[in-house]
Amino acid sequence: MKTETRSDLPVFERIPRHVAVIMDGNGRWAKSRKLPRLEGHKRGAKAVEETVKAAAECQVEFLTLYAFSVENWTRPSSEIKGLMSLLVQTLKQYEKVLNKNNIRLQAIGRLMDLPETVHRQLQKTITSTAHNTGLTLILALSYSGRVELVEAARTLAEKVRQGDLKTSQINEKAISDHLYTGGLPDPDLLIRTSGEMRLSNFLLWQISYTELYLTQVLWPDFGREEFFNALRSYNQRQRRFGTV
Ligand code: FPP
Repeated sequence: MKTETRSDLPVFERIPRHVAVIMDGNGRWAKSRKLPRLEGHKRGAKAVEETVKAAAECQVEFLTLYAFSVENWTRPSSEIKGLMSLLVQTLKQYEKVLNKNNIRLQAIGRLMDLPETVHRQLQKTITSTAHNTGLTLILALSYSGRVELVEAARTLAEKVRQGDLKTSQINEKAISDHLYTGGLPDPDLLIRTSGEMRLSNFLLWQISYTELYLTQVLWPDFGREEFFNALRSYNQRQRRFGTV
């Protein structure tokens, strides 16, 4: 199976293996149009589809989207409910799109915190796309970078307690391997929309040397062209990883 490509696909010298995205600005997009916040999220789901397709076309290997944080559980229950049912609906609808484009779905975060309906649909879409070999789309759901590190520390401590690991074997690789993203390359590029300049507890360990691309564009207005702009910017960076 092949990923569909469009004839107007730009040529990039370097393609990041792993792109992570903080999708922000759905609420402001809706507010500026006097629409309910959920309308912003709905348009945000469309932007997800465009971005995922563009990443697959460019042969990005991994795309991690920050869809719902642990902190987002403090939002009004009506918004949480709306977002959760949008997730179920979107996952159902995208199953075809993902399979048509050879995209495999995965998820990271405290997935056990998700409502049963979301959990079930998520597992269904993950299973139905597991055979795909193109882009791996990773949804971060009920995700917190600090919680991820706490959980990794607990697992490592338990292994030491059981005698399966020596304290001296706890190194950077051991920590990386015990994160939700264990086995994945660290992101090469992190995109954040809506002009905010913070990391919001996203992939804190993994983004040590990630290139940042911040744009004023609100997430519902993000799409194929905006994704290519981020790749253009990435292509102008000189990555030195601390050396000269
Ligand atoms: C941030 O905007 C966005 C979210 C908390 C949710 C992201 C969800 C989607 C893009 C919709 C569907 C997702 C998938 C994966 C299909 P905000 O509400 O914080 O915006 P604001 O800062 O302007 O209020």
